[in-house]
Amino acid sequence: MPDPSALSTGFGELDASPTQRVRVWDLPTRIFHWALAVAVVGQIATGLSGVMAWHLRNGYLVLALLMFRLVWGFVGGHWSRFASFVHSPSALVGYLRGRARPEQLVGHTPLGALSVFAMLAILVAQVATGLVADDEISASGPLTRFVSSATVSLASAWHTTAGKWIVLALVVLHVLAIVFYALVRHQHLVKPMVSGDKLLMQLAPASRDTAGSRLLALIVFGACAGFAYWISTLRL
Ligand code: HEM
Ligand code: HEM
Repeated sequence: MPDPSALSTGFGELDASPTQRVRVWDLPTRIFHWALAVAVVGQIATGLSGVMAWHLRNGYLVLALLMFRLVWGFVGGHWSRFASFVHSPSALVGYLRGRARPEQLVGHTPLGALSVFAMLAILVAQVATGLVADDEISASGPLTRFVSSATVSLASAWHTTAGKWIVLALVVLHVLAIVFYALVRHQHLVKPMVSGDKLLMQLAPASRDTAGSRLLALIVFGACAGFAYWISTLRL
């Protein structure tokens, strides 16, 4: 288990001050996160209850959000960039043995990063298969006519069986992990995902979260939403 006191050792003389308030999650990342959480719960609910008109509409929102996050992983604030949380297998082993380097404990930890990438990947697969799925009754994705019927069958099968259960399992695991960190490790991860800030025992680079970076996020999201809307118009 990583020793929180290890936080105070990694940055040498920079850690003279006991705590620093550091912006870790920029506003766009926080809005993305909570919007994605609501939208994915909505997708599961509308899918399972068969409210397919809303399943498709909400699906385009999930598509836009995921595209936004993929772009934000390259141009967003420091701790939202994929480069800040792509950790090597040895970093993961070190983290699990309680020997994480201090900077690995600021944003997504090596284990947290793994779950974030898994969640994003399975959601991308769920959206991609949804776009070409067909229930042969009333609901079909907007891109079904561009692929073969064998692809439609395969995609529908994945989307409605393994895909939906893996999404559900990862979401449950995600929330249980957050509860585990709060109750067992006394690390409250939700508050920073709301306020954006973490109290750290060392100096660490802050994520840029200025009016300019928020405007950039708005422009990126606008482009992603426009693209998702265009995809929706391809449905006959
Ligand atoms: C369908 C529901 C949810 C989905 C799909 C989801 C997805 C994600 C994703 C993709 C991230 C990575 C954030 C990023 O870097 O962009 C994340 C992080 C996080 N989520 Fe969720 N989330 C969901 C529900 C929740 C709920 C209900 C909570 C609160 C209990 C929560 C708390 C957090 C926290 C605290 C983090 C940051 C973890 C860290 O510090 O490494 N999430 N979530
Ligand atoms: C996070 C993303 C998504 C989740 C969790 C999700 C979940 C589900 C669920 C639970 C079902 C019902 C499965 C069943 O009948 O047992 C379903 C069906 C369906 N979804 Fe999604 N979905 C997502 C995204 C999308 C997207 C983006 C589209 C298209 C725009 C889409 C199109 C469809 C279609 C056409 C069906 C009916 C498929 C069939 O019955 O063969 N879904 N989805």
